Amino acid sequence: MHRILSKDILAPDVARFWIEGAHIARKRKPGQFVIVRTSEDGERIPLTIADVDKQRGAISIIVQGVGKSTKQLNALNVGDAILDVAGPLGRGTEIHPNARVCCIGGGIGTAVVYPIACGAKALHGQVVAIVGGRTKDFVILEKELRAVVDRVIVTTDDGSAGAKGLVTDALRGLLAEGATFDEVVAVGPLPMMKAVVALTKPLGIKTTVSLNPLMVDGTGMCGGCRVSVGGEQKFVCVDGPEFNGHLVDFDELGARLRAYREQEAESLRLYNERVACQAISN
Ligand SMILES: Cc1cc2nc3c(=O)[nH]c(=O)nc-3n(C[C@H](O)[C@H](O)[C@H](O)COP(=O)(O)OP(=O)(O)OC[C@H]3O[C@@H](n4cnc5c(N)ncnc54)[C@H](O)[C@@H]3O)c2cc1C
Ligand code: FES
Repeated sequence: MHRILSKDILAPDVARFWIEGAHIARKRKPGQFVIVRTSEDGERIPLTIADVDKQRGAISIIVQGVGKSTKQLNALNVGDAILDVAGPLGRGTEIHPNARVCCIGGGIGTAVVYPIACGAKALHGQVVAIVGGRTKDFVILEKELRAVVDRVIVTTDDGSAGAKGLVTDALRGLLAEGATFDEVVAVGPLPMMKAVVALTKPLGIKTTVSLNPLMVDGTGMCGGCRVSVGGEQKFVCVDGPEFNGHLVDFDELGARLRAYREQEAESLRLYNERVACQAISN
């Protein structure tokens, strides 16, 4: 059991939890994730370890409530316990000392790039972060990133915060200003990562993406998280979650992510009905 030590809301349907997890905090490298289960019959939810506090023996996870399991998790409060938190899983980010890195986070993807940006700074890198959201309400971790990296650029689709436009517009702007990067790290919705890769590939800028396929066991045994990278089959849970973006087959991954849409929608509908019934009977 992992007790929830604190909870705050970062954006609509996005909660940050600090939870007990001393052994995970001790071992975790930036880029790694945990698989969480809230109850015996609950689904396994892969979530990036956004931050660790080794002294307190705690880890932070940032959760966007998109379906039944993540909404169920976000309904928990301080003092509640999470049944299982398995990890750290996956390979840590390969961070090179003194690298010039552009970390791009779209929506909840910023929770994934934040620890990578911190890791790059810890190795004396020069780090620029581009943080995108649909509107100002969906921009997360701006303050936390400003405290760590050299420069933060915010973009929103509607211009309600930062520059109006997409994260790729900001990257294009930086490159036009003459900025040079050893690496771009992009994490967010698949179309966003695909667009970043389309921009950097012809320029030959190394680009790392963190993939979020459906996962079941998280051990490389079930095949649920299979992706094609450079024509080879890889398992995101053990070979990733980070890959060379120039080699990822985003279209195949998108199709696999859509495979259970109907079942996911039905599961969310039943969950919402149950929550509504409980509210009426209370
Ligand atoms: C390595 C890894 C790290 C992740 N880190 C985080 C994190 O730090 N914070 C976070 O909020 N989420 C993260 N995710 C995504 C998260 O695991 C899924 O959103 C979650 O499993 C959805 O479960 P659900 O039952 O709530 O929704 P489901 O009922 O399974 O899905 C509902 C809808 O959510 C969308 N969805 C489902 N799975 C994904 C996915 N993997 N990526 C994008 N959209 C999806 C689809 O549109 C789907 O129809 C990560 C995924 C992986 C593989
Ligand atoms: S989740 Fe089963 S192989 Fe990766």
